[in-house]
Amino acid sequence: MRKILANDGIDAGGKKILEDAGFEVQTEKVPQEELAAYIQQHQIEALTVRSATQVRKELLDACPHLKVIGRGGVGMDNIDVDYARSIGKKVVNTPASSSNSVAELVMASLFCLVRNLYDSNRKMPLEGEAHFEALKKKYSKGSELAGKTLGIVGFGRIGQSVACKALGVGMRVVAYDPFVEHANLTLEIHGAGKVSVLIKTEPLIDLLKQADAITVHVPGGQLLGKEEFAHMKKGVLLVNTSRGGVINETDLLAALDSGSVAHAALDVFEHEPHPNPALLKHPNISLTPHIGAATEEAQARIGLELAALLVASLNA
Ligand code: 3PG
Repeated sequence: MRKILANDGIDAGGKKILEDAGFEVQTEKVPQEELAAYIQQHQIEALTVRSATQVRKELLDACPHLKVIGRGGVGMDNIDVDYARSIGKKVVNTPASSSNSVAELVMASLFCLVRNLYDSNRKMPLEGEAHFEALKKKYSKGSELAGKTLGIVGFGRIGQSVACKALGVGMRVVAYDPFVEHANLTLEIHGAGKVSVLIKTEPLIDLLKQADAITVHVPGGQLLGKEEFAHMKKGVLLVNTSRGGVINETDLLAALDSGSVAHAALDVFEHEPHPNPALLKHPNISLTPHIGAATEEAQARIGLELAALLVASLNA
């Protein structure tokens, strides 16, 4: 039977499509250092990964029979995509399936920051009984998102999905993307139809100066550091659900300590799965362990999209 290894897992719906198409799908995680030998030994034709498994040149060279690499998700920084394609392997991903989940995590993070929810959740179990009044006072300077300006850096699918949700809660949206001049957003208001909103992107510097909160949605690289922080409003909020290091971690710690950035929410880190402990311990950072796409709905959509792409690629 033709074999597929879903090394970082695949949702049940996607697995079923693959099995119905005649493939055996193995979902047991093979450690990175044993992967090449396993793929060869079991004559795996397609390997699917999320962000955990690395698919580098050495692995690709060691697995001449591997035909397809499928990324269940958006970012392909864990795959040597150009090299894989240059030696005739197909590489596919599922860029649209997780946008809504990431956008919802951004909004959750923003609400969390403006009301100090992350800190309150840390303190209440320890101090809530003895120091309720003191904690109430500590968290008494919350603010609303409505009326604030959200700067969206990177205005592709995820950035635009964030914009729709932010507009829905009454925020003003400014966006920057060197590849997008404008976007016609469609907001679906449950039970009341659709509303169209045109957003024209602006230079990064203008966004930095206006935004009360900034969220980044780019594939990688470093976009925001000391120099950019200098243009931001004092007390700005930063959210990173894209890739670790897009906001320079050292500069962020310094900006949080000086108060020029009030709070940050980080879902991604430069050295995953071993983030800088100074970030993990910082009192003004809300933390999640790279869960932007980790919803049942997103993973179900990803599984279906990935399965269809694999069947088409393997039967081509
Ligand atoms: C992505 O690039 O799709 C997200 O960062 C999600 O990564 P994950 O599949 O490892 O959760």
